[in-house]
Amino acid sequence: MNSKSLDYEKMPGHWLLASLGKKVLRPGGLEMTRHMLGSLNVNERDVVVEFAPGLGVTAQMTLRHNPGEYIGIEQDEAAASSVRQYLWGERRSCIVASAEHTGLPDGSASIIYGEAMLTMQAPVQKQRIISEAKRLLRPGGKYAIHEMCLFPDDLDAKKKEGIQKDLSQSIRVNARPLTVSEWKQLLEEHGFRITNVKTAPMHLLRPRRMIQDEGLGGVLRIVSNVIRNPRARKRVLGMRRQFLKHGRYLQAVTLTAEIPE
Ligand SMILES: C[S@@+](CC[C@H](N)C(=O)[O-])C[C@H]1O[C@@H](n2cnc3c(N)ncnc32)[C@H](O)[C@@H]1O
Repeated sequence: MNSKSLDYEKMPGHWLLASLGKKVLRPGGLEMTRHMLGSLNVNERDVVVEFAPGLGVTAQMTLRHNPGEYIGIEQDEAAASSVRQYLWGERRSCIVASAEHTGLPDGSASIIYGEAMLTMQAPVQKQRIISEAKRLLRPGGKYAIHEMCLFPDDLDAKKKEGIQKDLSQSIRVNARPLTVSEWKQLLEEHGFRITNVKTAPMHLLRPRRMIQDEGLGGVLRIVSNVIRNPRARKRVLGMRRQFLKHGRYLQAVTLTAEIPE
């Protein structure tokens, strides 16, 4: 992509970071992803549906477990193409669709997961996506999410609103993280039973996490792109400022839940 043609002022934060070379776009980084995948325990008998695979980082990790089938549901066409470069052989696909309406048959999946995609949805869309996960899963099926969360559980409403406003303005997506209790409740209201919860600091743009996620070479490439691009730099620093400002109230969470048999 030609960097001159990108609208750095308006583009969503995750695509801004991706354009600078960042590949891991979820709040708890690869360590939380590993934890989430561990709780899902993918094997050859599984039909795995990934909501919003983005650049395909987790898809590659999942495919190493050789699931019976892998289907990515990604609404962004360019992202879906980048996921497809990791898919070969039968029963591997990435469909351009919204996770609200995947078009897949009822009860066709044994495992569904999605990272950094529910936080950016309005309440009604969060409901629709979780309902779709429920519809797709067979009894005993598992659903995991990895999202941003607010801390502590009793954070007052005004503070929540202020954080959501600051994040939405700097990330340029409708960022609406929930508290851990609210995420749990949302899943339980749809009939899921929570089986695993883990939180981690929201250190998406902190140097240590960046090195863990992208490797030293990756971080040096990102930093050099940021230095050479003043418009992108302004946005990245703006996002980082908000993450630091609200750092004590922001975390990453992964929750795994199952449909009782
Ligand atoms: C922050 S990125 C996260 C990508 C990837 N899951 C990761 O953690 O690196 C958000 C992704 O969600 C996708 N997305 C957002 N809403 C979606 C929806 N309703 N259905 C499918 N994909 C969606 C975006 O296109 C983008 O790829």
